[in-house]
Amino acid sequence: MDFILNGRKTQLPEGDPQTTLLDWLRAEGLTGSKEGCAEGECGACTVLLVRPRTAEKKTLSQYVPMNSCLLMLPMLAGQEVFTVEALATTAGMCEVQRAIAEGGGSQCGYCTPGFVMSLFAEQYRPGRVGPCDPHSMGGNLCRCTGYRPIQDAALSIGPAPDDAFRARLDQPAPTAIPFASKRFHRPGTLAECFQLMAANPGARYVAGATDVAVESNLRDLRWPLLISTEALVELQVFTETTGQIEIGAGLSLSEIESPWLTAPRAFKEWFPLFASPLVRNRATLGGNLATGSPIGDAAPLLLAFDASLTIAGPSGRRQVKLSDFFLAYRKTLLAPGQLIVSITIPKPFPQLARFFKVAKRQLDDISTVAACFALACNAAGQIERAGIAYGGVAATPVRVTAAEQWLVGKQWNQKSMEQAQTIVATALKPLDDHRGSAAYRLAMTQSLLAKFWHEQSEATA
Ligand SMILES: Cc1cc2nc3c(=O)[nH]c(=O)nc-3n(C[C@H](O)[C@H](O)[C@H](O)COP(=O)(O)OP(=O)(O)OC[C@H]3O[C@@H](n4cnc5c(N)ncnc54)[C@H](O)[C@@H]3O)c2cc1C
Ligand code: FES
Ligand code: FES
Repeated sequence: MDFILNGRKTQLPEGDPQTTLLDWLRAEGLTGSKEGCAEGECGACTVLLVRPRTAEKKTLSQYVPMNSCLLMLPMLAGQEVFTVEALATTAGMCEVQRAIAEGGGSQCGYCTPGFVMSLFAEQYRPGRVGPCDPHSMGGNLCRCTGYRPIQDAALSIGPAPDDAFRARLDQPAPTAIPFASKRFHRPGTLAECFQLMAANPGARYVAGATDVAVESNLRDLRWPLLISTEALVELQVFTETTGQIEIGAGLSLSEIESPWLTAPRAFKEWFPLFASPLVRNRATLGGNLATGSPIGDAAPLLLAFDASLTIAGPSGRRQVKLSDFFLAYRKTLLAPGQLIVSITIPKPFPQLARFFKVAKRQLDDISTVAACFALACNAAGQIERAGIAYGGVAATPVRVTAAEQWLVGKQWNQKSMEQAQTIVATALKPLDDHRGSAAYRLAMTQSLLAKFWHEQSEATA
């Protein structure tokens, strides 16, 4: 397979398709990228991929930072990658490296290449105005320096210089085109996916691999064939009409967030609470739902917005309500071989909607409890449609339909909120685990509903 590494065409013989880019780079002597965790948590392995800027500006490029520990080598076929080794030139360190080094932003230095790569992508981010956003380094963790000097370094960075890196962004980026090797296929059509699945028992679909690569790296799982969804155009749609929005299951969360400037507030709250920018640059909505995880963050949001899924398989396509999709713990309606093609959210969106996530850390953490509340009211203030959905309180993500139905026709006030709390408390039977006791989770479901009400009432007071 071919790819471009630090500006040079690089050819790889066929090897283990589950070898990560990080392991390969380090074995090749490119040891600037470090391994801190091998599960997307620390960012020490950050590299940049050259990706199309947006769906509309496909002829231009952007640098997209990603965790190389979550990229399996064949995923790079036809792609273009930069590692930290590429940044310094004979003229010396690049501005980002200098700012971090001279500003005291590096002590042991283990995390530094990762910070440098994320910040470099931010410096060259097309259309950036003003200082670099320190949140661009949200997936990079430092154990010894402390974040203050790193943030100061970020805020001191100027515009991207007029150099070869900037010139590269005016050229098109590679796209994911069909590719096949012995144990890794990236087909261009759904029909090929279904044929490959039928012919290869034990094969596994893979999208962004932010779950699959963790299973490979940490649990040592091996599959006879990985079938990548990255070249399926049907999974890349993003179409908004007056009646609905359809989002391709294969778009990364960043590819959804950046063009969707008119997204409802609850979605804008949800994006930054989901993992880190590095993970969001790979993780797809389809992958998140397909895992059937009770603590996946997309489900409560999409359940409250009454989303549906388009599912395709060898015998055709069908649309199912997301509320019918989750059957039991990590068990969904997907039959073997089937794929989620897209997610459809009806419009108009409810006017009152919030997403809340309770986790041990405010950012870059897995939910203990997540909730989304969405209410559509008429001109008289009566609730016409209610969505109340939670993650982390049952074996599957849940929609509390009894409370939703009770609210319809009522005014949204303290009394109706308290009655909804009571219904929620009787409907849910949360599980105990190391993240939170059942009693704590149940208390959270109710206090989040109260928070939603208090915020709305304060906003309209
Ligand atoms: C560090 C880290 C932090 C994380 N933080 C969060 C978080 O805050 N919130 C959260 O919800 N999740 C989190 N996750 C989990 C993960 O990022 C998400 O579940 C992600 O959305 C999965 O998408 P993916 O494209 O990477 O899926 P993959 O890993 O490629 O696939 C996951 C599963 O879905 C299947 N699949 C993929 N696409 C499809 C499809 N279109 N149709 C049918 N099946 C499909 C695959 O076969 C596989 O079984 C985190 C993960 C990491 C590594
Ligand atoms: S090694 Fe920690 S994110 Fe890759
Ligand atoms: S400088 Fe040591 S971990 Fe960041």
